Amino acid sequence: MNSELQKEIIQLKEDKNAIILAHNYQPKEVQEVADFLGDSLELCIKAKEIEDKDIIVFCGVDFMAETAYMLNPDKKVLIPDIDAECPMAHMLTGEQVREAKEKYPDAAVCLYVNSLGEAKAEADILCTSGNVKKVVASIEQDTILFGPDTNLGEFVQPFTDKKIIPIPGDGHCYVHKLFHKEDIEDARKKYPNADIIIHPESNKEVQEMADYVLSTGGMLSHVKESDKDEFVIGTEVDLITRLKSEIPDKTYYPLLEGAICKTMKLHSLEKLRDCLVNESPEITVPDDIAEKSINAVERMLEASK
Ligand code: 13P
Ligand code: SF4
Repeated sequence: MNSELQKEIIQLKEDKNAIILAHNYQPKEVQEVADFLGDSLELCIKAKEIEDKDIIVFCGVDFMAETAYMLNPDKKVLIPDIDAECPMAHMLTGEQVREAKEKYPDAAVCLYVNSLGEAKAEADILCTSGNVKKVVASIEQDTILFGPDTNLGEFVQPFTDKKIIPIPGDGHCYVHKLFHKEDIEDARKKYPNADIIIHPESNKEVQEMADYVLSTGGMLSHVKESDKDEFVIGTEVDLITRLKSEIPDKTYYPLLEGAICKTMKLHSLEKLRDCLVNESPEITVPDDIAEKSINAVERMLEASK
C-alpha cells in the first residue's frame, strides 16, 4: 500500500476536500485509496450522507456516479474515466419503459439502479441487489414492471405474491451471464467444504444450484458471519480483493477467473490522480431528469431501512 502515486492521490484528496467512493469491483490499488467501499446500495446510502466534502470521486460505473450526483447536486461528482459505463444500464431506454407503462397502466415501475437517467425518470422506485426484496414488499400495486435485469426480476419473484413483469429488452449483465451450471458442479467437486455464493444477476439455473444468492455487500456480510472457512465467490473477481483484505483468515475461490467487468477496471491510479488535479471528467444529470428520478431514489432508500 501507498505507492508514490497513491500518496499523491491521498494528498490531493485532502487539498481538494474530496472523498473517494469505490465499488467492490475496483482493482486493489484503487480500493486501497478509497475512503469508502461498498455495493450499489451502500454507495447510495453513503453518497446521501456526505455533507462536509466539496468533491465526490466515484470509482464505479456511470449509473452509480449519476445517482451520487442526484443525491448531491451541489457537489462536484468526478469519475476518473468517463467511459466507465455499465452495458446493462444501456439496455433499457426511457422509451421502452414508457411503452411498458402504456401497456400496463396500473402497474408500478421498479427499476434496478443499473439503469440510465432517462429510464430512472420513468420509475416509481429503484432497487439494488441488496434491497430488492424489501423494495418489492414496499410497493402497493399488485403488478410490477421490472427492468432492466431479467435475472434479478426472476430472483425476487418467489419472495412476493405480486406479479413481476419484465420490461422487454432482455437486460442482463454480461459478466454474471458467464456463469454456467457446469461451473457450480466443478466448484462443488473441487471445494466440497465451501459455501457457493452467487450474485442475483446470474442466470436462474445457476442461482438455484448455489448455496446463497446475495449482493456483493451481502456476500461480505455472509463471509464475516459464517462459521465456514472456504467460499466460492460467484461474482466479479475483485470482490475477492476486498474479502482478502478485510477477512484475511478465510479462503476464497472465484467461480470463474475470467469474471471481469472491463469498464469497472478503467479507473487506473493515473486517471484517478488526473481527475483530482483537473477536477474533470465531471458527471452531471440534466435537471429535468434528476427532478423526475430523485423520488424513485429516495423511495428506494426509505424502503431499504
Ligand atoms: P452490487 O454490488 O450492488 O451487488 O451490484 C453488483 C453489480 O454488478 C453492480 O453493477
Ligand atoms: Fe454492469 Fe455487470 Fe459490470 Fe455490474 S458487473 S457494472 S452489472 S456490466
